[in-house]
This record gives sequence, structure tokens and C-alpha cells, in this order.
Amino acid sequence: MAERSIPLIDHRQHSARPAVPLNAAAPDGLLADRRGRPLRDLRISVTDRCNFRCSYCMPKEVFDKEHRFLPHSELLSFEEITRLARLFTLHGVKKLRLTGGEPLLRKGLEHLIEQLAAIRADDGTPDGEPLDITLTTNASLLARKAAALKAAGLKRVTVSLDALDDAVFRRMNDVDFPVADVLAGIEAAVAVGLSPIKVNMVVKRGVNDQEIVPMARFFRENFGGKVVLRFIEYMDVGITNGWRMDEVLPSAQVVERIHQVFPLRALEPTQVGETAERWGYVDKVAGSHGEIGVISSVTNAFCGDCNRARLSTEGKLYLCLFASRGHDLRSLLRDPANYTDAQVASAIGLVWQDRDDRYSELRGSAAGDAAASAKVEMSYIGG
Ligand code: GTP
Ligand code: 5AD
Ligand code: SF4
Ligand code: SF4
Repeated sequence: MAERSIPLIDHRQHSARPAVPLNAAAPDGLLADRRGRPLRDLRISVTDRCNFRCSYCMPKEVFDKEHRFLPHSELLSFEEITRLARLFTLHGVKKLRLTGGEPLLRKGLEHLIEQLAAIRADDGTPDGEPLDITLTTNASLLARKAAALKAAGLKRVTVSLDALDDAVFRRMNDVDFPVADVLAGIEAAVAVGLSPIKVNMVVKRGVNDQEIVPMARFFRENFGGKVVLRFIEYMDVGITNGWRMDEVLPSAQVVERIHQVFPLRALEPTQVGETAERWGYVDKVAGSHGEIGVISSVTNAFCGDCNRARLSTEGKLYLCLFASRGHDLRSLLRDPANYTDAQVASAIGLVWQDRDDRYSELRGSAAGDAAASAKVEMSYIGG
């Protein structure tokens, strides 16, 4: 795979400072972009570092000793993240997902979670519902941290795991990390009640597709059925992973392979704008969720209802996973003009109102190709 990795573009330079309107309008939670899509889900990258080197995300040849990760002074502080998260909730955000890199590498993350969990009806969510606060992790540190995360107010976790076969998994994470330690992390998350726990498996044809049925069987039968397994089509995020269409296994084939062993039926979506299509086991194991999900960004794009925004580690707002430019919110937070919350919230509102992104729908077209040459890396803006 080494020969197919492409050097990184440093996106950290590419961003625009949003305009701050003179007359800031109070957010009303009714914000919509140019395609009528609301803002509901904010993904916050808390570090650009990771202790894994999955080839589809942070290939070793690019993210090596020479790679300059962000210095601490460039990162948003916990206070800055919390301030922004609160303003986003005023615009209608209901879900906060902490990502990275590997978020558990950020020191004292539980203190950030405490602050985020304190955003409430009186100063936060307009309709008073508690926020759905979750985290995406490779679980390498989860066994150690699950209890503290839960105590801080984290609701649930999503664990990335690409194979049960130890040799395949070690090859995919490319740092020789064993499956057993990830499973111990999941066990700890189950034990402290960080549920529903989801496991995300990125499927690469010819690399780990033989693991699809064993993964389905394992999570059907273990952890009391409390884990929902989801299969993700390998995507062309960023430009360093040397993505090729022939390495994508369409989700329809994932469903078909599992269906032959454990019959499945389609389930209704639970929420507008969901990434995953849900399938239920016809023969449900007693007490289990009894479902799997497939995320088909390549073969069945779901941009139509996309309500997700991404905040990079250094405070840039990205409106699409495949964007090439961010909007520098940190520069507003650190401006000597000392902008008020209303001003920053208005600036965010204007940025969202101007949003027209739908990369997955355009993939392969001339407009998609034009956008594809400078895409940001997923480890930088977060999954
Ligand atoms: P839940 O709230 O648990 O359903 O989470 P989610 O599915 O919204 O988020 P998660 O981070 O678990 O997403 C799983 C994977 O789907 C990501 O790692 C990406 O590979 C992919 N994904 C998530 N959001 C988007 C998106 O907006 N666009 C595309 N193309 N892929 C996405
Ligand atoms: N394709 C699909 N998903 C990806 N992720 C990272 N890179 C890719 C890619 N190229 C997602 C996976 C992983 C999470 C951290 O980011 O879901 O579990
Ligand atoms: Fe790290 Fe997750 Fe990227 Fe793998 S996919 S390198 S675990 S951030
Ligand atoms: Fe949303 Fe962009 Fe993903 Fe489409 S490709 S679903 S617009 S993040």
C-alpha cells in the first residue's frame, strides 16, 4: 500500500475567517442551509493525533516521524470548545460527537465532557432535551477510561474495529495492536453502561471482507447483544489513502453475505439524516438489539438530509467531510474585539446558511472531481 499513498496537503493553512454581522440576530434553532438542511450534529475533533496508523485514514508513510502534528497552543481549549458547542446547540444541534484522531489521547478529556454535559435547557438546547454526547474511539485506552468518561456525563461510545482475526486487525491498524485489548475496552464500556455501544467496521475488499460474517456472528452472540455492529464502505476521504473504487465492497453485498447465514429484514430509519441503514435479524437472540447497520456513502449517498458539521482540532468549521476549506472560528474567539456570543453565533449561522455541500452525491461527476483534488484529511477534522 505504501506506493499508493499520496503526500498530504497542509489544510491547516486553507481557511477563511467568517464575517461577523453588525446586527447579530439571536439563534432560533431553525437554521437551514441552501438545500433546506438543518444543523443537528456537531463532530468535534479534540486531537489530530492517533496511536494507530490505519492505512485508510493515517497511512504510516505520510503520518511518520516527520509529520508535524499541531502544537498545544493551536488546539481549542476545553473552554473554547464548550463555548462553541453551546452556540451550536442554540442553532439546533442535538448531538455532540468527540472524535480525532483518537480523542482519548487528549489529556483530561473527561473534564471537557463534564463541561459539555452541563450545557442545559436554560443556557443551551432550546427545547430542554439533554444533549446526546458520544465519542468515537479505537478503544485502545477505553478499558482504563470508561468509568471516568461515564461519570463525566458521556452517554455512549462508538468503537472502531475492522476485524476479529488478530493478524488481520494488527495489519490494518499497522501498529501491531491486538484485538483482545479492543474487546476489553468494549467490555468495560458495556460494564459501565455507555450504551448503545456501536462498533464501526470499515470494509476493504480483499483486506478484511472475509471478516464480515465472523464479526456479525460475534456481536450477535457476545456482550449480551448490547453492541450494534455497522459496516462502512471504504471512502475516498482525504487524499493520502490512495483510495480505489475496486477496494470498496458495496453495502448491498455486505447485507447479502450476512443474510445468507443470518436472515435479515430492512428496518425503518429512527432519525432523519441518519448515516446508517438498519437491518434486523429475523431470528433475534433474546435480549439483544438484534440489528446491524450499513453506511453506504459511496454506493448510496446520504447528503440529502446531511445535518452534520465538523469542528477541527484548531477550531475550523467544516461543512462537509470532503470539504477543502474550513471557516476559522478560533480567530473569532481569540479576536481582541472580544466578540459576544450573539455575534459568534450569528457568524456561524451565516456560514451554515450558505452551505451547499453534497460531495458524495457528486462523486465521479465533473463537479465532484474538481472538489476531490484538495480534500481535507479525516484525522484532522474528525470522522
Ligand atoms: P450515530 O449517532 O451513532 O448513528 O453516529 P453516526 O453514524 O452519525 O456517526 P459515526 O461517527 O458513527 O459515523 C460512522 C461513519 O460513517 C464515519 O466514521 C464515516 O465513515 C461515515 N460518516 C459519518 N458521517 C458522515 C457524513 O456526513 N458523510 C459521509 N460521507 N460519511 C459519514
Ligand atoms: N473510509 C471510511 N471510514 C473511514 N474512517 C476513517 N477513514 C475512513 C475511510 N477512508 C472512519 C471509520 C473509523 C473512524 C475513526 O473514521 O469509521 O472507524
Ligand atoms: Fe486512528 Fe481511527 Fe484513523 Fe485508525 S481510523 S488511524 S484508529 S483515527
Ligand atoms: Fe454530508 Fe458531505 Fe457526507 Fe454528503 S458527503 S453526507 S454533505 S458530510
